[in-house]
Amino acid sequence: MLSSKIENIELSGTMEVSAKTFELRSKGIDVIDLCVGEPDLPTPENIKKAGINAIDHDKTKYTINTGIKELRQAIADKYKNEWGIDFSIDEIIVSNGAKQSIYNVLQTIINENEEVLIPAPYYVSYPHMVKLAGGKPVIVETKRINQYKPTIDEIASYISPKSKAIILCNPNNPTGTVLTKKELETIVNFSIEKNLVVICDEIYEKLIYNKTEFTSVASFGKKENVIIINGVSKTYSMTGWRIGYAIGSKNIVSGMNKLQSHSTSNACTISQFASLEALTGDQALVEQQRIIFEERRNLVYNALKEIELFSCVEPKGAFYIFVDIKKVLEKSDKIADSEEFCMKLLNEAYVATVPGSVFGKAGYIRISYAKSNKELTEAMIRLKEFVNTII
Ligand SMILES: Cc1ncc(COP(=O)(O)O)c(C=O)c1O
Repeated sequence: MLSSKIENIELSGTMEVSAKTFELRSKGIDVIDLCVGEPDLPTPENIKKAGINAIDHDKTKYTINTGIKELRQAIADKYKNEWGIDFSIDEIIVSNGAKQSIYNVLQTIINENEEVLIPAPYYVSYPHMVKLAGGKPVIVETKRINQYKPTIDEIASYISPKSKAIILCNPNNPTGTVLTKKELETIVNFSIEKNLVVICDEIYEKLIYNKTEFTSVASFGKKENVIIINGVSKTYSMTGWRIGYAIGSKNIVSGMNKLQSHSTSNACTISQFASLEALTGDQALVEQQRIIFEERRNLVYNALKEIELFSCVEPKGAFYIFVDIKKVLEKSDKIADSEEFCMKLLNEAYVATVPGSVFGKAGYIRISYAKSNKELTEAMIRLKEFVNTII
């Protein structure tokens, strides 16, 4: 009964681990969940109050499809202040989370069988979203030596007459790598030259460590065939409020407007007012959150370095570490692949992680450090002991 479109995609690859985590927890077992894709900190008080205020003042009806003017203006102001680039509010559309923004871009630009280049490792939903848009995901293999950042030669080798777009994720989920300004500019210029639409997911823009410099694609001042994806989920601990946005090409944004007008209409009105407060209110909490995550990153990265058979590229952003476990797999006759590693780690040491295959790279696991120092410290002890039991 299901359409081939749906038969063709899979449920999120974390489902098996999540189901097992749930089962173990229901038996009273203390599982440390390092699969999480959201900050564990609460939404800041001023933002919560703005949401409550919206309800109290009956701001509970439909809004204009693309999002309230004040919020789009606040987004435009943010880009003007941070990158010195003017965006008009017609170049911005607010949706139900960054995920919907990416989905809508792809639905808006992809024709049947057109190809979308996706450097691996990638955010789990990109290839599925491309397929749902009728397109073909083309996975661009990257190298450890380049910190999994795609090079021009690698991208070029996957370009065909059917190539339509490229999706970049910077800072990257799952590797935590951040492209330098030069690397980003080179990729963007090359892609535009090849007539590709550049979709750049910058949802982790404010979680940057080690004094690394983050550059938004916006800073290059190119709008035609460029769409930036962003939102409030990660920066303001607002994952459940479901507000994301796309900013860039007016043509694509107006196409997305048409699509959204016949699907979800405006994003939640209350959440839009809360997001307005997030963007225009006190930003001190953003830095406070970043410092907390930097400390956690250091804790986990240093602990992982002590596990001899592990290796990982130092993450510079987001809140994930992508660990190469191939040497453990080679040495162990008890475990064959990263899926088995994750399930055994969960079943025997009660630590939940995500296998790399979900992100397009076998032989890795992804660890999220969006957890307290106490939980992370305990998880690292359990992980180290577990590795010793399987080699
Ligand atoms: C790279 C990336 N893009 C987009 C999203 C989705 O963001 P949102 O919650 O705003 O839909 C996530 C969430 O994990 C993500 O990691």
